[in-house]
Amino acid sequence: MFTIRKATPADLPAIQNVNLTNLPENYNLQLYYYHLILYPTSFVAVTPDNKIVGYCLTKIEDDDPHPVVTGQVTSISVLRTYRRLGIATKLIRAAENSMIEIFGARAMMLQVRVSNKPALHLYEKTIGFTVTKVSKHYYLDGEDALILTHNFTSDTLINKDCSSVVVDEWKKVMQEQETKQKEQPTTTN
Ligand SMILES: CC(C)(COP(=O)(O)OP(=O)(O)OC[C@H]1O[C@@H](n2cnc3c(N)ncnc32)[C@H](O)[C@@H]1OP(=O)(O)O)[C@@H](O)C(=O)NCCC(=O)NCCS
Repeated sequence: MFTIRKATPADLPAIQNVNLTNLPENYNLQLYYYHLILYPTSFVAVTPDNKIVGYCLTKIEDDDPHPVVTGQVTSISVLRTYRRLGIATKLIRAAENSMIEIFGARAMMLQVRVSNKPALHLYEKTIGFTVTKVSKHYYLDGEDALILTHNFTSDTLINKDCSSVVVDEWKKVMQEQETKQKEQPTTTN
C-alpha cells in the first residue's frame, strides 16, 4: 500500500506540503535541502500512485555536545487519512537504521509538545524513546517540550547482515557495551 524510501531533493515540495498540512512548526525549503544534502538519513512514505503521504526529516544533532554520535528527528508527520497504519513507525525505524549505517549513531533524540499524545505513544511505547529533559516554553506559543532520547541497542539495526567499516565498529561497540551491562553486579540493599 505504501513504500518507505530515502527522501531526495525532488521530494522537497511534497514534504513541505505534508509539513504545512500537519504541523505549526514549518521550515523554508533551504532548511529541508540542507538536511538532505548533509544528512542522507531522511525518509518518505509513498503510495503506489507516487503521492508522498509522510516524511521523517533527520540530521546529526550538533547544537549541544553529546557523548555519543546522536541523530535528531527534526520533523515527522503523516497525512491524516494515512495515520495509524504504521507509517510513522516504519519511517523512524528506517531513519534510525540509516543513522547507524551512515554515521554509526548510538542514539536518536527529538522534541515533542507535552500535549502531543499520539506522537508520545509512537515514541515511548512503540519505538522505545524515554524522556530525558523538559524544555520550558520551548514552542513559540509557550508550550513546554519534552526532550526524548532513544539509546540504541544492537537490536536497533534492522539489516543485521549489513557490513561496512562504520557498521562493524558500531556492532563491536554495542556488543562490548551490552556485555559490560550484563556483567555489572546487581545492587541489593
Ligand atoms: C504522530 C504521527 C506522526 C503518528 O503517525 P502514524 O503513522 O499514525 O503512527 P503509527 O501508525 O506508526 O502508530 C504508531 C503507534 O502510535 C499509536 N498512535 C498513533 N496515533 C495515535 C492516536 N491518535 N492516539 C493514540 N495512539 C496513537 C498507534 O496505535 C501505534 O501504537 P502501537 O505501536 O502500540 O500499535 C501522526 O499522528 C502525525 O503526523 N501527527 C501530526 C504531526 C505530529 O504531531 N508530528 C510529531 C511532532 S513531534
